[in-house]
Order: sequence, then structure tokens, then C-alpha cells
Amino acid sequence: MAAEPVLVMQDICKSFPGVTALKDAQLRLFPGEVHAVMGQNGAGKSTLIKVLTGVETPDSGEILLNGRAIQPESVDAAQKLGISTVFQEVNLCPNLSVAENIFIGRFPMRGLAIDWKTIEREAQAALAALNIHVDVTRTLSEFPVAIQQMVAIARALSTEAQVLILDEPTSSLDEDEVERLFDALRELKRKNIAILFVTHFLDQTYAISDRITVLRNGEFVGEYPASELSRLELINAMVGREIDEAGYAAQDGESTSPHAERPFVSVQGLGASGRIHPIDLDIYRGQVLGLGGLLGSGRTETARLLFGIDRAESGTIAIDGAPVRLNSPRKAVRQGIAFCPEDRKTEGIVADLSIRENIILALQARRGIFRYLPRRVQSAMADQFIKQLGIRTPDAEKPIGQLSGGNQQKALLARWLATEPKMLILDEPTRGIDIAAKLEIMDLVKAQCRKGLAILFISSEMSEVLRVSDRIAVLRDRRKVGEIDGKAADEQSVFRMIAGAEA
Ligand SMILES: Nc1ncnc2c1ncn2[C@@H]1O[C@H](COP(=O)(O)OP(=O)(O)OP(=O)(O)O)[C@@H](O)[C@H]1O
Ligand SMILES: [Mg+2]
Repeated sequence: MAAEPVLVMQDICKSFPGVTALKDAQLRLFPGEVHAVMGQNGAGKSTLIKVLTGVETPDSGEILLNGRAIQPESVDAAQKLGISTVFQEVNLCPNLSVAENIFIGRFPMRGLAIDWKTIEREAQAALAALNIHVDVTRTLSEFPVAIQQMVAIARALSTEAQVLILDEPTSSLDEDEVERLFDALRELKRKNIAILFVTHFLDQTYAISDRITVLRNGEFVGEYPASELSRLELINAMVGREIDEAGYAAQDGESTSPHAERPFVSVQGLGASGRIHPIDLDIYRGQVLGLGGLLGSGRTETARLLFGIDRAESGTIAIDGAPVRLNSPRKAVRQGIAFCPEDRKTEGIVADLSIRENIILALQARRGIFRYLPRRVQSAMADQFIKQLGIRTPDAEKPIGQLSGGNQQKALLARWLATEPKMLILDEPTRGIDIAAKLEIMDLVKAQCRKGLAILFISSEMSEVLRVSDRIAVLRDRRKVGEIDGKAADEQSVFRMIAGAEA
């Protein structure tokens, strides 16, 4: 490791009304290292990055780049200084093409005209380096979140930088894509670039990081060589108390929950071309049905058909044995189905509304505008969920957009729990949520389930699917390839089933 850090952040303080996001935070980045910044939801990781990249102005403190004080005033200014960033909330332009997104703000010119051929060729190459092969002239919004995330990464990698910052870049990627990203990062390390990496996945932290800085409640806890900090020490540093990771990792040993004779929702041959091959699923009250499979296997597509977001072209759905047509989310909601989507930014939160308004949104919509929930009831409900889910905020009236990413996710979950649904579809509910909060959320989900809620659970973390599911429907290439008992299965058996379908 080089003797001199390329970047130093010293005694950084940043407060927002009612919240101290950073208090004397410290960070040192050396050339050629991958440095993980770890901390619970709301610990200040993203704020530290925003201060560094000119999105937020610090109240006090100093940033030194190659020994010289800098005060970037915008993301562009930071970029010009050689600090390139992939933000937690992907900040691309959904209406522009993939290629335009990779080159926006720095289009190569040919004479007076933008050189589209070069843009397209280089965008293709930038993505190919990450092993993504898509038509770069298509609009970004046509692609799933994971691809969008890869586009953001390709954009950051394709700019000349001394410092590369990645704030939870892997939250919607599958293992293969993470591996490709890590290969790209190793390449950059060899070029002596300093990489700052934020993730909640401990495996990833240890797979790629040289050193780890831990933040807690906006304060610097310590800086450690990754090889000298055990997982348990890391978690304890983040949480500030002793947590038993073994307890977290272990299956809870329960046997499959008993269920009624008749499924709550029974799906027969539900399909739509290009989305999912005709699929059969039975979802019972009091049980969690997990959807296992890799990215692109059709998990979200299945959920969207079931919730009436996309139209099914074939198949039937029965609720409590009676056939129903769920061709719009309204109808699904009326049948007691709730859907917590994976992409909280575009399909979930309304950033300008308060936490309270976001939490009561779905419930109010179901009641209709004529049965307005009294403010007192709204507040009580919001406060209850803030407490129950441990949402970190001074009060319920803050705009939800000001919460940290993980806390936004919790509020979104609260929105759907508030409607007291009969069935809850959870698509990546713990994406971006820290390890302690994850435990709490999964406990909450299971408690709801014991009260008779039916749950359809999607997560890219197979260990999580295994931990909560009574049964797992395994998907591959947009097709169901089998179903297994979630309590008896382990990761190997699920992956074997996925692989077996290949033959
Ligand atoms: N623009 C803002 N206005 C008000 N409060 C904010 C703003 N940005 C962040 N905060 C608050 O600052 C604290 C730190 O948030 P930050 O986003 O840095 O957390 P984080 O460590 O990135 O968390 P996560 O793991 O959930 O992404 C939180 O309490 C958050 O609500
Ligand atoms: Mg964050």
C-alpha cells in the first residue's frame, strides 16, 4: 500500500434539521485499495459520499485530495477532480438511451456534431467489459434495475478517475454480475485507483476490501485492515452492542408452518410471452412461498402478473377457490393483495411526501377519498410503524426522501403492512437494509405470517429465501422448474434444481 493517502476526510460534520448525519467523521483512501465504509442504515455513509462529491456541503471539516484542500461544489466538479461516483439511488436519465446515459455530459464530437457512432461503440464496449450485452440505443427505462445499475457502474468506470466511489452498487445484482464488477474493480486496483465501496453484504466486503472504516450514528468508530477484523467484530462495531451473527445466519429450525387445505391464491398456467412461461403456484395463509432463482429468472415478472401490473395472456387465478380476474393492481388490492416492489424510487416512495403520508398512502387509496383517515389516526399509525420497524427519523413529518436508503425501504414495508393485507408480495424487501434491521424485518414478516398472512417472498439472497420460506418455487429462464420444502432445502439443493433444469 502507498505511504500517502490520495484522499483524506477530516472531522467532517453535517447536520440536517433534527438530525446529525455526520459528527467528526474520518476517512482515508490509499491508491490501489478497496476501502469499505460500513455502518447501519442511517449511519451516515451516503452523506459522507455526498459531502465528498459536492452533493452536500459539510458544516465543517476538511477534504484533502493529494494533500490539497478541495471543496467540490457539484458532482461534475468532483468528477473533474477525478472523483467518480455511482450513487445509491441510481441517478441516470430513464428516458435517454443506454449509450447516452454512459456518455451524458461528455459527448465526443465530430466537428460540430455529436459523434453517435463512437458513443454507441464505446458504450457497447464499456458494458461488454462487465459482460453485459444489450442494445445500447434502447431507452434505459426498458431495462430491469440490475441492468440500470450496471449502466451506472459502466459510466463510472469509463471516466478517468483517481477515486471511484460505489454506494451499494450491488444491491440488485446477482452473484455473476457481482463477480464481474469485482473483476473490474481488481483491474482498477492494479491501475492504482482508490475505490470506496459501500455495501450491506458482509461476504462482499470481505471478498474485495483491503480496509474497512466503520461509522455509527454519524461518528467514526474505527479504521481496520479487513484481514484483522472478524465478521463478529465488524458487526459489533457497526451496531455498538454484541450481536450473535450465528443466530442471524442459522435457520430457525422451525418445521414447515401448517396450512389450510385450500390455498388462499391458486394460480394455474399464468403466463405472458416474454415475461414468464405458464406457471402454477399455490400460496397458503400462514405460509411463506419463496421464489428462488437467479436474476432474470422471472421472479419479479411472476409477481407483477399476479398483482395485475402486467396483463397475463393465459391462465387462471382463484382466491379462496373462486376464480377472479386480476387485471389491474386495483383489483388485486381489493382482493386483499399487497405488493411491495423492488424499485423503491420509481415504483415506491413519493419523495416529497412525509413519512406519515407515505405510510398511509396505500391504506388511504383503498379506503377512497371519501373516507379520509383522520390526521390523529394517521399520526398514531405512522408512529407505531416507526417504532416497530426502527425507522431512524426525528419524527413522522419529515419528507421520506430525506431518510437514508434502508429507512425508506422500511417505510415502504410499513405502507403495505398498514393495509392489513391477506397476501403480501415482497420483492427484495431487505434490499439495502443493514444486518440488524434485516433480522427485525424478517421477524416481523414471520409474525404477520403466523397471524394468517400469506406471503410471496422474492430475494436475490438465497440464504434469506431459505430462512423465511415454507416452500420455494424454483424458477429458471422464466419458467418454474420445481418446488421444494423450504425447511428441508439448503442452498445446494436449490442451485442443483436450477442447474438440473439446464439438461
Ligand atoms: N437531505 C437530507 N435531509 C435531511 N436528513 C437527511 C438528508 N440526507 C440524509 N439525512 C439523514 O442523515 C442520516 C444519515 O443518512 P445516510 O443516507 O448518510 O445514511 P446511510 O449510512 O447511507 O444509510 P443506508 O445504509 O440506509 O443507505 C439519516 O438519519 C438521514 O435521515
Ligand atoms: Mg446510504
